[in-house]
Amino acid sequence: MAVFSRAISAFVVLLLFSFSEAKEVLVGGKSDAWKIPSSQSDSLNQWAGSSRFRIGDSLVWKYDGAKDSVLLVSKEDYANCNTSNPIEEHKDGNTKVKLDRSGAFYFISGAEGHCQKGQKLVVVVLSPRHAVISPAPSPVEFEGPAVAPTSSATRLQSGLMVALGVFALGLF
Ligand SMILES: *[C@@H]1O[C@H](CO)[C@@H](O)[C@H](O)[C@H]1NC(C)=O
Repeated sequence: MAVFSRAISAFVVLLLFSFSEAKEVLVGGKSDAWKIPSSQSDSLNQWAGSSRFRIGDSLVWKYDGAKDSVLLVSKEDYANCNTSNPIEEHKDGNTKVKLDRSGAFYFISGAEGHCQKGQKLVVVVLSPRHAVISPAPSPVEFEGPAVAPTSSATRLQSGLMVALGVFALGLF
C-alpha cells in the first residue's frame, strides 16, 4: 500500500507539473491579430509587453497562409525588416512556435511590405532565475484574452481536481 500511494503521489506531482508547465498563447489574443496594425496602440508589441512568457510556452498564430507568413529572424533582420534570410519560415496559417529558451524571439511578417508597416513582434522569455527572484504576476490577471480558456491557473486547478480525485480513489 505504501508503495502504491507513493506511486500515486509521484503521479500526482507529475500531473500537477505538466498541468502548470507550458501554455499555448494565441498571438495578439485573437485569431486575426497577425496583420498590419491600425495604430501603434494596436501593435502586437504592445500586446507582448503586457504578457508573460515562460520557457516551454508556445506561441500560436492564426492567419491566411496563402497571403501571409511568420518568419523567425535575427535581431538585425527584425530591425531592417529583412525577409531574405529567416531562421524559420512558417506559412501554414496555423503556426506554433515553442519558446524553448530564455531571451528575445524576433518575428516579422513575410508578406511584402508588411513588416515595414509594423507587422512584427518581439517576445522576451524570462530566464527561470529571473522568474524566481521577481515572481511574475499571475498570468491570468494580466494576460486577459491573450490566453485561451486554458490558462495555467485553470490548468493548475483542474490538475488539483484530478489530484484530489486520484487521492480519493486511493482511499477506497
Ligand atoms: C538582407 O539579408 C541578407 C542576408 O542576411 C543580406 O545579404 C542583404 O543585404 C540584406 N538586405 C537588406 C536590404 O538589408
